[in-house]
Amino acid sequence: MIKSLVLPSKALKFPVGKIKGPRQLRCKGPKMELTLTQPDDWHLHLRDGDMLEAVVCHSASHFGRAIVMPNLKPPITTTAAAVTYRESILKALPANINFTPLMTLYLTDTTSPEEIKFARRSGVVFAVKLYPAGATTNSQDGVTDLFGKCLPVLEEMAEQNMPLLVHGEVTNPDVDVFDREKVFIETVLQPLVQRLPQLGVVMEHITTMDAVRFVESCKEGSVAATVTPQHLLLNRNSLFQGGLQPHNYCLPVLKREIHRQAIVAAVTSGSKRFFLGTDSAPHERRRKECSCGCAGIYNAPVALSLYAKVFDEAGALDKLEAFTSFNGPDFYGLPRNTSKIKMIRTPWKVPESFSFSFGDIIPMFAGETLEWQPSLI
Ligand code: DOR
Ligand code: ZN
Repeated sequence: MIKSLVLPSKALKFPVGKIKGPRQLRCKGPKMELTLTQPDDWHLHLRDGDMLEAVVCHSASHFGRAIVMPNLKPPITTTAAAVTYRESILKALPANINFTPLMTLYLTDTTSPEEIKFARRSGVVFAVKLYPAGATTNSQDGVTDLFGKCLPVLEEMAEQNMPLLVHGEVTNPDVDVFDREKVFIETVLQPLVQRLPQLGVVMEHITTMDAVRFVESCKEGSVAATVTPQHLLLNRNSLFQGGLQPHNYCLPVLKREIHRQAIVAAVTSGSKRFFLGTDSAPHERRRKECSCGCAGIYNAPVALSLYAKVFDEAGALDKLEAFTSFNGPDFYGLPRNTSKIKMIRTPWKVPESFSFSFGDIIPMFAGETLEWQPSLI
C-alpha cells in the first residue's frame, strides 16, 4: 500500500492544487515522493537477439513481471518455443535484477487444443495472443477466421483458464484505419464474449471510447483492457504536428482527442477493469524513419513517468497504484508484488536516443523533460 503521511501544503515546493489525496504523497525536502507496490507490464515486446539484450533492462529495472508478446520472426506458437524464448530473456538479464517474464503463445489457424493443455501445464505460459492476420508487425501468421478455425482452441482456453489477449482491429482494407477497433468490437469481440462468456479476454492497448464502453459493459474479472502511455497522452494530431512524426506511429493508431479523454477518464476512475500495459515496441531508428516505417513506440524507459503524469494531471494520483500494480495481477489470478518502487517528483530529461552496435532506438518523448522519476527501493 501507499505510505500515508499528511503534510501541511506550505511544506510542499510544488503546487498542490492538482493533486488529490495528499495522504498518497510524502514530502522529503523539496521533492515529493510516491511509494508504489512494484508495477508489472501486462503487454511488452522484448524482441530477441541483440535487440532483446539492448532493451530488456529498461523494463526489468522498473517492472517486476511482464507479459511478453510472441510476435517474433518466426512467432512463438508452441510451449516449447516459449520455454526457449523465456530462457533467452533470463540470460539477457544482469545477475542482480529480479524480473519474471510471463510468456504467451501466438494463436494461429492451426493451434491445437492440446497445445493449450501443454501451455497450462508448463507453468511459464500465461496467455494466448490473437493477432488478426495482417493487423500489425509480424502478424502475417495470425488468425484468418477466429470463429471458423479457432473455436475448439478457445473452448480449451476457457476450460484451462488461459486468457485470450486481443489485438482488436479488423484488417479489411475497406474499413477506415481509424475505425478498425470499433468494427472489431462489433464483429468479433461482442460475439466472442456472448459465445464464450467463461473465456478471460484482455483487449490490448485500447484506443477508443467504444473500447472503454465495451469493456465496462462486460462482466468484471472476465474482460479487461491494457492501456498504453501513448494512448493516454497523445492524440492523432501528434502524428502530423510540425511534419510526419514516425516515432509516434503505433498500431492501433492514435485516435481523436475525445477518445484519449475517454481512456484517461476510464483509468483514473479507479475501475479494476483497466491496467498497465506499455506495448513498448522497439524498432531500430532506420526502420522508423524510412519510406515505409514500422509501427511501434519505444516507451519502456519513460512509461512509469508518463503514467504518473497522466494520473497527476487528472488529480488522481491516489488511483495510480491500483492501475500499475493491483488490477493486472488480480485479473490474472497472480499474487501482487511485494517489493516497492518510489516515484520522485523531480525533473529529468529523456535521452534523445539509445545507441547500440546495431543502431539507435528513439524513446517516446525523446529529449523532453518529465517530472516523475521512478527508482526501485
Ligand atoms: O505498434 C505496434 N507495434 N503495435 C503492435 O501491435 C505490434 C508492435 C510491434 O511489435 O512492433
Ligand atoms: Zn503489442
